Order: sequence, then structure tokens, then C-alpha cells
Amino acid sequence: MDPSCWTVDLLFGHPEIDRQHQEIIAIGKEIEAAFAGNGPEPKIIEQLTMYYNLLKRHFSDEEKIMLNISQDKYKSHIDAHRHLHESILNFVANAIKDIKSGLFIEIKNLFPYAFESLAYNVKFYDSELARIAHAENSGLA
Ligand SMILES: [Fe+2]
Repeated sequence: MDPSCWTVDLLFGHPEIDRQHQEIIAIGKEIEAAFAGNGPEPKIIEQLTMYYNLLKRHFSDEEKIMLNISQDKYKSHIDAHRHLHESILNFVANAIKDIKSGLFIEIKNLFPYAFESLAYNVKFYDSELARIAHAENSGLA
């Protein structure tokens, strides 16, 4: 899957979050190209580590926005969105460990799962969060 396909219709409406989404897409494309070219592994590990750190910061920023919306009214959104963030971060962290243990091909074949999960996160949960935050006039500039 092309990691850029989720740029199409989504602008979160928060300059920093939108900038981070662009950065995530750019690094995602580099990782996809590196996997397609079969390496080199140290470079992919470096790119995945950068990707992990960027995602971690990005998810943390989104979760700060979640703190500004009604916690009771949107509990199901908040719980599910946080859970997906955690699941994506765990996947990328384990991918780095697994490549270091020699499972390059396995991770190369599994990694599209991370891109699909991110695409779903942005298309569904981020757009829902943006809608809620705009409606409540909280957390977004
Ligand atoms: Fe996001």
C-alpha cells in the first residue's frame, strides 16, 4: 500500500498535527522503498527508529488533544484511538527488534500491516477526533 494514499482528503486542522502527518508520510515512503530494495538492514533499522520516535511524539500530541474533549461523552473514541496508537507503536518496536534478530524478510512482508493501520488511524480516528475537537471548540487552533 502506498503510505501517501491517506493524504487525499484529510487535513486535521491543527498546523503541527498536519505537519507531522506529512513527515510520517515522507518517512513511510522511504521505508517502503527501502523494503522494496531489500535493505540495507542497518539503514532500515535507522529509518524505523526515526519512524517510531516520530509516531510516538505524534500520537502523544494527538492524545493531548483528546484530553481537551469531553472524557465521558467520547470515552469509546478515546479508548479505541489510544489502543490503536499503542498497537501501532508496539508493532514498529517489535519490527525493529525482529529485524535485528534476522527476521528481515518476515518483517518486510508484514510491514504493510503498519501502513494500513496508520491509514485507518488517520482516515477514521484522526478525522473523528478533528470533528469532535472542532465541534467542542477545544484543542485545535
Ligand atoms: Fe495522526
